This record gives sequence, structure tokens and C-alpha cells, in this order.
Amino acid sequence: MEVKFKESRNKLNELSGKEWIKFTKTWFIHRPLPRENAKLLHPAAFPESLVKEFVEFFTKRGQLVLDPFLGTGSTLIACIESNRCGIGVEVVKKWADIAEKRVENIIAQKRGSEHLLKTMGLQPERLLIKVIHGDSRNLSKIWQENGFPLVDYCITSPPYWNQLKRNYMRQKGRAEKGLATKYSEDPNDVGNIDDYDGFLKALKVVFNEVYKVTKNRGYLTVITNNVFFNGKIYPLAFDTVRILSEEPYLWVPKDEKIWLQDDKPLLPLGVFTAWVGNRAHQYCLIFRKEE
Ligand SMILES: C[S@@+](CC[C@H](N)C(=O)[O-])C[C@H]1O[C@@H](n2cnc3c(N)ncnc32)[C@H](O)[C@@H]1O
Repeated sequence: MEVKFKESRNKLNELSGKEWIKFTKTWFIHRPLPRENAKLLHPAAFPESLVKEFVEFFTKRGQLVLDPFLGTGSTLIACIESNRCGIGVEVVKKWADIAEKRVENIIAQKRGSEHLLKTMGLQPERLLIKVIHGDSRNLSKIWQENGFPLVDYCITSPPYWNQLKRNYMRQKGRAEKGLATKYSEDPNDVGNIDDYDGFLKALKVVFNEVYKVTKNRGYLTVITNNVFFNGKIYPLAFDTVRILSEEPYLWVPKDEKIWLQDDKPLLPLGVFTAWVGNRAHQYCLIFRKEE
């Protein structure tokens, strides 16, 4: 069924009615292409092809996207590829530097095609793309100091509590390949907070700050998961919905889209003894600022 919207009626994005409806399905399977080296260095990067789909649903060209847990910069790559502006904040210098390099490379590639546009008499768009090395618990201060405009959309994947610090099985494989096995030793990295409630409080502070720098009616997508630790599930995804929808700076929960990872290898967890799930999905939680 082809649903036609007049362009002026589409307040949110530049998709056709058909594309819009397709994206509103609450689950999806996404099989990203194999990762390049710079991304492999980060133990928890998300695919930019996935971020791009969200960015293209929740913004129009030229609008501003924020990622307060930037990592190696997937969100900014997705922004450049879809002609959106983007600002990313990353507390660990090593990741911020990799993000900066990846952004420079993609922009340089784009400059090559700009020359072609100019010969065709077209003016290439100039996008604000910025990597900030800093702590997202100070976002509003960072915005003030840099004179950044308010954000149209935020998409991010916070640390899954201190999961990576503890994930020895995964560490072993990565360490053998000479790859990083945890985010950092940085005390400002919220992934280093061992107390679960303390971690949730730190997350709430970051998303309060995101709220302050976001336009009214702007959307937020948080990619996260529940975490299995010490024989039980810590419902991080569900707690994220709960804490973000609490005052002050209440984000209105709108939905979840479930990312099904059907390319994830199954591990022999608890076989013949007990239930331990092979978690092969993640939650993309959707919120909106409604004042
Ligand atoms: C799950 S990773 C994000 C990965 C990213 N989506 C990517 O594709 O590379 C979370 C990131 O948040 C960063 N982080 C943790 N605490 C932070 C803070 N207080 N401010 C900014 N970044 C922080 C970590 O260093 C880590 O790189």
C-alpha cells in the first residue's frame, strides 16, 4: 500500500509514507557489515548503518544530532552520511581521538565528491560535526561554553553498567587479538561505577543534561539491554525507562524497537544445569521531550 504525504505535512523527516510505516515496526533484524579496524578497537561500538536509519527517521537534513556517549564516533559517521549535523561527547581521550580521525577521514572523502558537485554548479552543504572530549554530566556547561545550538535528536548507547569490566570470556578473546577489553580506568567513565544504583543515578544525570540541551518535542533513542550478573538479571533497559521518565527533566517514554541480532554466535551457557539466556537482542528505547 503506497501512502502519499505532501512534503509540507511531514513535520519530522524526509521519508515517504511507505518508508515511515516500515520503520515503525517494533522489531528489526540488522546485520551490519564486518567492522573496520578503528571500530574493532572499541569493545562496544554500534553499527553506523543502524544509527543512520534512526537519524533519518527522527530528523531532516541539516538538523542537529547529539551522542553523549560517543565512543569511536559511529553516530557522527551516520550524520555525515545522511547530511545531518552532529555533536558527540566522549570522556575517554583514546576513543575521542579515534572518533576525531574517523570523522576527518569521512569528511575528506566527502570533499572529493564536493568538487564534482561544484563542477555541476551545485553548492555542497556545510555541516557542523564536532567531537568533544568531556564528561556528559556537564553537557549544558559544554553547550554554553561553545555556543552550540539546541539539539533536534539524541541517539546513544551508554555503557551497559560495568558489564565490560566483568566480561572475562569476551576479554580473553579480545586480549589475544591485542584489542581493548574495557572502556577505560577513567573515574568519570560511568561504566566504572560498580554500584548498580549509583550507575543508574549517573545515567539520570546525563539524560537530565541531554534534556536541557534538546529542543522541545525532540526525540531521544537509548540503545541498551538488561544485564545478567551473579545469577540474576539486572533490568537495566527497564530501569532506564523508569528513571528517565521520573522528574526532574521527565522524558516521555514512547516505545521500544527491538534489535534482533540473529548473526550472534550462541555460547554454551548453563547447559544441562540452569537457564542462562543467550541474549541476542538489544532495546532501542524511544523517548520525547514534551513540555
Ligand atoms: C557503549 S559505548 C558507546 C559506543 C559507541 N556507540 C560506538 O559506536 O563507538 C559507551 C561510551 O560512553 C563513554 N562514557 C562513559 N562515561 C561517560 C561520560 N561521563 N561522558 C561521556 N562519555 C562517557 C565510554 O567511554 C564509552 O566509550
